[in-house]
Amino acid sequence: MNFVRLIIVALFLSLPGEFAQAQPAKDYQPAVGQEGKDVIWVPTPQALVDKMLDLAKVTPKDYVIDLGSGDGRTVITAAKRGAHALGIEYNPDMVEISKRNAAKEGVSDHASFVKADLFESDFSQAQVISMFLLSSINLKLRPKILELKPGTRIVSNTFDMGEWKPDESATIPGCNSWCTAHLWIVPAKVEGNWKLPKGELALKQSFQMISGTLTNGNAVAPIDGKLNGERISFTAGNASYTGRVNGDSIDGAVGGTKWSASRAGK
Ligand SMILES: C[S@@+](CC[C@H](N)C(=O)[O-])C[C@H]1O[C@@H](n2cnc3c(N)ncnc32)[C@H](O)[C@@H]1O
Repeated sequence: MNFVRLIIVALFLSLPGEFAQAQPAKDYQPAVGQEGKDVIWVPTPQALVDKMLDLAKVTPKDYVIDLGSGDGRTVITAAKRGAHALGIEYNPDMVEISKRNAAKEGVSDHASFVKADLFESDFSQAQVISMFLLSSINLKLRPKILELKPGTRIVSNTFDMGEWKPDESATIPGCNSWCTAHLWIVPAKVEGNWKLPKGELALKQSFQMISGTLTNGNAVAPIDGKLNGERISFTAGNASYTGRVNGDSIDGAVGGTKWSASRAGK
């Protein structure tokens, strides 16, 4: 019996890498710049964490997910604002540190952490996603992000999303490194043809930007506009249209008069 136990212990001690990582050391000290799975660990300065959560307008109603959560600071800050927040972090030692930090700050009930690969994680339930990754990783995540519920807010420390330009950016004055936060709001999908009671709207969409034409009889007006989640606004000729997209219909107002549209062919 003792011999069997000895073999089990010997086997356990000889297991390298992944399995050994499942037992994080209590005295683990992270080092800025240490290797991570897809990106090294560098913590976001607290002033920028605050700015990112300000840009995303985080409230207690939000569920915030930080992709690659490091020592947990963004998750903990969101939890202090009353939001529920989750950190997804590949390094199990960092996950343990984050849990301890959350406990120290008294927000363990609102801040959770999982050891997982962000590329294999479901973050579809988040209202806010924060990241400090790399532009190349943001670009890999972009198709999945664009499938999220319209209105989901994405904030990134410094790194961009290629041709998907931020809806807003903010820079910390007098800051030396990691000073800029970007915000994107997942736009509703509106590309295609829409029928109005009188006329037709033909929309082209590039991320949150829209163009196209509004046709009424022989009159064709070019349109130019923008989406903010489900909210749509555009000008056609001299008229300014605003509205809310709800799947296959749009309801809104133009010059104090209601207008509506439904997807053509439905
Ligand atoms: C630049 S740090 C940002 C940490 C934290 N979000 C912050 O702003 O302070 C990136 C973090 O992502 C983690 N990471 C790298 N690749 C990952 C992956 N595939 N899945 C989950 N976490 C990952 C790293 O271990 C590191 O902690």
